[in-house]
Amino acid sequence: MEYRVKSSIPAKQRSGCMVIGIYESRKLGSTAKQINQVCDGQLAAVLKHGDMDGKPGKSLMLYNLPGLGCERVLLVGCGKEKKLDAASFGKIFSTASKTLEDGGTTHATFYLSELTVKGWNSQRKISQAIVACESARYRFDQLKSKSSAPKRPLKSITLNVDSRDLAAAKHGLIAGQAIANGMGLTRDLSNLPGNICTPSYLASQARKLGKQHSKLSIRILEEAEMKKLGMGALLSVSRGSRQPAKLITLDYKGARKSDKPVVLVGKGLTFDAGGISIKPAQAMDEMKYDMCGGATVMGVMCAVAEIGLPINLVGVIPSSENLPDGDANKPGDIVTSMSGQTIEILNTDAEGRLILCDALTYCARYKPDVVIDLATLTGACIVALGHQTQAVLGNNEPLIKDLLKAGEQVGDRAWQLPLWEEYQQQLDSNFADMANIGGRTAGTITAACFLSRYTKDYNWAHMDIAGTAWVSGANKGATGRPVPLLMQYLIDRAG
Ligand code: BES
Ligand code: MN
Ligand code: ZN
Repeated sequence: MEYRVKSSIPAKQRSGCMVIGIYESRKLGSTAKQINQVCDGQLAAVLKHGDMDGKPGKSLMLYNLPGLGCERVLLVGCGKEKKLDAASFGKIFSTASKTLEDGGTTHATFYLSELTVKGWNSQRKISQAIVACESARYRFDQLKSKSSAPKRPLKSITLNVDSRDLAAAKHGLIAGQAIANGMGLTRDLSNLPGNICTPSYLASQARKLGKQHSKLSIRILEEAEMKKLGMGALLSVSRGSRQPAKLITLDYKGARKSDKPVVLVGKGLTFDAGGISIKPAQAMDEMKYDMCGGATVMGVMCAVAEIGLPINLVGVIPSSENLPDGDANKPGDIVTSMSGQTIEILNTDAEGRLILCDALTYCARYKPDVVIDLATLTGACIVALGHQTQAVLGNNEPLIKDLLKAGEQVGDRAWQLPLWEEYQQQLDSNFADMANIGGRTAGTITAACFLSRYTKDYNWAHMDIAGTAWVSGANKGATGRPVPLLMQYLIDRAG
């Protein structure tokens, strides 16, 4: 699929389909007015008849309006003009691209000048439009014997903007396509089942990414090296699995060597059965998504390298399975982490923090400016914030503020939970420096408390993406979140 930006007037449009937004007020915007004039008031007549009420998610295809050079005009509902935000903006583009593709339109031109979201410039508008279209068109059918692709797929979308916005729009074009590609990679990796997407598979995909981008170098640490480094927590999880653990590092150099990097750490648990503290059978298949944090890191690295952002960025993905086995962790086992701190494993299903803590200790060697970890860490996070919002906690308020703001800007929102000292005591253990669980209450916070004990030497934020990284139910699948939030954060940083 090809995206272009352009500046021209609708009356000159000769082919394909014109897409224009209609607000609930049904007042004609400037593009609609021009079209209405050319077609002798036909557009206003359609709206007057009430066939299109402008509600979000609604669309109406019009054919052969008199006087127009192009055959089709698609009207898309935009809701209330004052209420247009990141989410409703995205909805306009997902509705439009699905309708176009279902109807067999191959070339479409979107007129964007009427659509304004508070705080957005043309660059943001274009990149968000592309991300929304590509997210809606995403399919995962590589494991079906018949493809579910439409017979006449969309071939090109032209995004029409005011001529004075053209330069900014071109930046948005590059960013939007890269972010959409990154999200596609994240979703593909996440949707793959545990028997295909193993730690070794993730490592091979990282190597592949490294071959595609000259500024990106990959290093995979094997179990023997992890043992030398003393990663007793991470290795205790993989001991119960026949798949060897991997510690995947991706190093992107887009700025001067002396610039301190951002380090992203992603939980790459390719299947979480719970271990000896085994999970119930119900929906256990969804635990193939326990590597979404790692897949997010891969997607972001891919997008950053594609744009060529002038920053230094490191990705670290501890990857393992968590299965029951004769050699698996047992409740009560005590292991020693790379930091030297000992951990009493009271529940083998709280394994994410065990693989993350060693990765978090390891990443201090990159002398990071900030470290952000992404993890499908706790079911409690879904109880607290649902599937709409990811949790963010950490030891550095400015970093947390920046992440919250980035998510708000692109409709990939996070919400801060407290990481106050008084929660730490829930991790007390009679036999080791800490327990790996903190009891029934405040599960997301005590998980972050656990991680906080390994991140004291740098600025750190933790995002629990258990609720946002995928959806269950009829449309079960990975969402690609929080790639948009992280990309916005990194783009803002790059200036
Ligand atoms: N991967 C899970 C968290 C999870 C659960 C993500 C459901 C998405 C949906 C994690 O490893 C886990 O099992 N956490 C336990 C922690 C508990 C034992 C303290 C949980 O949330 O139940
Ligand atoms: Mn678990
Ligand atoms: Zn897990």
